[in-house]
Amino acid sequence: MTTTSTVRIAVFLSGGGSNLQALIDASRAGILSGKIVLVVSNLRKAYGVKRAEQAGIDTFVFKEKNYDTPEQAAEDLLKKLQGYKVDYIALAGYLRLLPMAVVKSYKGRIVNIHPALLPKYWGKGMYGHFVHEAVLAAGEKESGVTIHLVDEIYDHGRILKQVTVPVLPDDTPETLAARVLEQEHKWYARVLDKLIKGEYNE
Ligand code: GAR
Repeated sequence: MTTTSTVRIAVFLSGGGSNLQALIDASRAGILSGKIVLVVSNLRKAYGVKRAEQAGIDTFVFKEKNYDTPEQAAEDLLKKLQGYKVDYIALAGYLRLLPMAVVKSYKGRIVNIHPALLPKYWGKGMYGHFVHEAVLAAGEKESGVTIHLVDEIYDHGRILKQVTVPVLPDDTPETLAARVLEQEHKWYARVLDKLIKGEYNE
């Protein structure tokens, strides 16, 4: 039987991995049930991959273009996840679309974190600093974090948690990003923990 303490998590990332680090720390502190057993990245050089290695977590570089067909890529990724007996997937700054076969297999068990208040500032090209630049350009008074489930209809996954932060008059994309990231680091592990414990089940 899988108890919450034996739940196995894969984290997908493309960048610095500060959210990965927060999840690792939360898992070690017992705030996040389960263990991060695999980090998947489309970029070998992402600093998040280094963080994983430093934490003794196995890594897998997944590039769809290295396969003959998208189906083969999806099959290989699924095989990898199954080989590691992964129960949950957390996207943490992963800037590629997940293969549909993976989304289907892990339906209800994939979460994503986005640095804005969905449904605003979402879609192609809306990631990282581009999001914060768009929020500032629009003159928004607040922004925040959205943590949501990933389902087959991209961008439509159920929202599990939103946290707002103020946008200050002298904000730059960097200062706003830092304020939002602080909340990401605080909430991602807590929300994933609740999901694992079945607290979002209707
Ligand atoms: C985070 O702000 C995350 O919300 C964002 O990328 C950043 C990754 O930072 N994700 C997206 O924009 C997804 N659309 P990190 O690598 O330091 O965790």
